[in-house]
Amino acid sequence: MTLIFATNNKNKVTEVQAAIGTAFTLVTLQEAGIDIDIPEPHATLEANATEKSTTINRLTGLACFSEDTGLEVAALGGEPGVKSARYAGADKDFTANIQLLLHKLNKQVDRKARFRTIISLILDGQETLFEGICEGTIGIHPAGEKGFGYDPVFTPTGATKTFAEMTIAEKNIYSHRRIATDQLIAFLQAHLNK
Ligand code: IMP
Repeated sequence: MTLIFATNNKNKVTEVQAAIGTAFTLVTLQEAGIDIDIPEPHATLEANATEKSTTINRLTGLACFSEDTGLEVAALGGEPGVKSARYAGADKDFTANIQLLLHKLNKQVDRKARFRTIISLILDGQETLFEGICEGTIGIHPAGEKGFGYDPVFTPTGATKTFAEMTIAEKNIYSHRRIATDQLIAFLQAHLNK
């Protein structure tokens, strides 16, 4: 079965394809010849994920899914949350976002945070949502060169290094995105076996 993954983020495609294995083939927006920056105007991850999947489903008529992810920091009342990509400004600069986050957490003892991913699948004209959560902590300084976004400052619970110090396989042991993807795969397999 072939599915369109409604994202322009290559890191997300690599992580999700690694979690899916060979069970399903992902087609990226680029591979589908779709060149749009899908808007994320809403106040929740769920609404943004729905916006992305329905936009691509409307354009292609094909089965597709999207995901929206936020970093929720306890001491900041859940910030940056749905604003994670544009926390420090419209240009979605990973380094500036991390600097702002560390500045806001300066001298803060409570460093608890979690990543939350929502996947929206549109199959046969019907939407289904899946959620994946990864608990962890925000470090004092960035560490590691791999991954993207807030990976250099996030250490998942049970690990001793940041996501940016892990291979994709290691990140996928803990990852919010992998947990949501597992649910997506289980749902699709049940659908195919109907
Ligand atoms: P998006 O709106 O789902 O593309 O993601 C919002 C922002 O959250 C991204 O620009 C990244 O900064 C951050 N983000 C999403 N997923 C991850 C992740 O797995 N690791 C680190 N940062 C992430």
